[in-house]
Amino acid sequence: MHVDRFERYWMWAASGMLVLFLGAIVITAFAGSAHPPSHVETVNPDTIRVAGEFAAPGVAAGPDGGVTVTMRAEFYVFRPEVIRVPAGKPITFRITSPDVLHGFQIVGSNVNLTVAPGYVSETTATFTRPGEYLIVCNEYCGLAHHLMQGKLIVEAAQ
Ligand code: CUA
Repeated sequence: MHVDRFERYWMWAASGMLVLFLGAIVITAFAGSAHPPSHVETVNPDTIRVAGEFAAPGVAAGPDGGVTVTMRAEFYVFRPEVIRVPAGKPITFRITSPDVLHGFQIVGSNVNLTVAPGYVSETTATFTRPGEYLIVCNEYCGLAHHLMQGKLIVEAAQ
């Protein structure tokens, strides 16, 4: 089969670029240890339901006035399903999964986490506007993914 000289050059050039770009992805994944976009904190997903902070998820006030919300995202439910937090205070969400990849998005806010089993996803946000916020899972996690939702109730300061 006759392939024109310049066409051959371009085929080699395109193949070379593929190798170069794929190599860059592989090298940076290992050198930069690719991980979920959060701080890197690992947990054993097999035991989070029975031991440690995620066994009793909920809202806890810290000594500095901040609030920590510990949560589990698991097959088709957030635990706790309803969270009550005060307005105007920094709220730190710590969330992990015992099963598969889930999402944690508080609609109408900047809070949007990927929740991977084995990792703790953490972010801090302050809600100035009291009211109810819908929490949705935005990573496809199974047949009832579309039913997986929770509620954040931001209460006005007393
Ligand atoms: Cu959990 Cu989709």
